[in-house]
Amino acid sequence: MSEALFKSFAIVGAGPHIGIPIVKAFLAIGAPILVIARPTSTNTSALPGNDPNLKVVRADYTSAFEVSAILRENKVDVLISTVTFVFGGVVVQHVLADAAKEAGVKLFVPSEFGVPPGAVGLAHEKHAFAVYAKSIGLPTLRIYNGLFNDFVPWLTALTETGKFHIVGKGDKPGSFTAISDVAGYVAHVLTTQPPSHLLDVELRIEGQRATLSEISALYKGSVTVVHCDALPTEGVPAADVCTSYQQRFDIGAASCGWNPDTQTDDAELASKGNSLWEGHHWLTVREVLGL
Ligand SMILES: NC(=O)c1ccc[n+]([C@@H]2O[C@H](COP(=O)([O-])OP(=O)(O)OC[C@H]3O[C@@H](n4cnc5c(N)ncnc54)[C@H](OP(=O)(O)O)[C@@H]3O)[C@@H](O)[C@H]2O)c1
Repeated sequence: MSEALFKSFAIVGAGPHIGIPIVKAFLAIGAPILVIARPTSTNTSALPGNDPNLKVVRADYTSAFEVSAILRENKVDVLISTVTFVFGGVVVQHVLADAAKEAGVKLFVPSEFGVPPGAVGLAHEKHAFAVYAKSIGLPTLRIYNGLFNDFVPWLTALTETGKFHIVGKGDKPGSFTAISDVAGYVAHVLTTQPPSHLLDVELRIEGQRATLSEISALYKGSVTVVHCDALPTEGVPAADVCTSYQQRFDIGAASCGWNPDTQTDDAELASKGNSLWEGHHWLTVREVLGL
């Protein structure tokens, strides 16, 4: 296997939560990146203007022909996907994978950025995608980071209700990583690590390990903590997804060290990928939320 570093990167599904931060992280280290946006996307207006390392093109993600022509034309080595999970985008990745394979892309980074998904349960579509990519011989790099620190108020419906909701006891540790750290990590490892460290690899990173009770204590009594069986649904748009994610917390499955097959958590494994970003300061939830 050639150990020359990957040179050419593209991203599909660059939205405001993680895709655009990844684009900015590439630009921050002077690495060129191609954004492939859907014809209808308005997210492109949030991309930095006037950076010679940024190129934006548009394509229909449901057309393998269209996407592969762009990948081929730009000689893309690595295709990163940050397509939506909540709104059903992960299913479209099968087409993107076909396009990548056809165009000779060497590595596909699928839209993971959560906890290791199993064949059943929350985010099983991500697991199914990994199985599909393997079946067509497309190497993947799957990155698990736990919950974005920035998403704590969302997960607990604090944003909508002013109260910090914990489904169950909140006494099992899970993984938290800041969006800026996830984005920086993606750009860092893809531009510094040889292919043998990245092809068909799962990297697990963790900025902080904590229980939801410990996170709620960071608010120092300034918000009411409510223990419940499910998040309130009224006025809470993604209540079902948040409840499912919190149910994972309740059994230890919100850790990046979670093994869906054995249903066990390995605390040491959860942050094993951190070592590829030597000397990096990982932000805590307190730092990100300014608590
Ligand atoms: N760990 C965490 O706390 C956390 C939190 C949020 C998200 N995530 C993960 O991060 C990944 C990206 O999620 P996100 O919240 O950033 O996504 P998002 O903002 O909802 O959407 C990202 C992009 O997906 C594309 N898209 C939207 N609908 C689509 C569809 N039906 N088919 C194909 N593409 C579609 C859009 O691309 P265009 O701009 O080209 O239209 C959009 O910009 C997911 O895997 C998600 O699970 C993790």
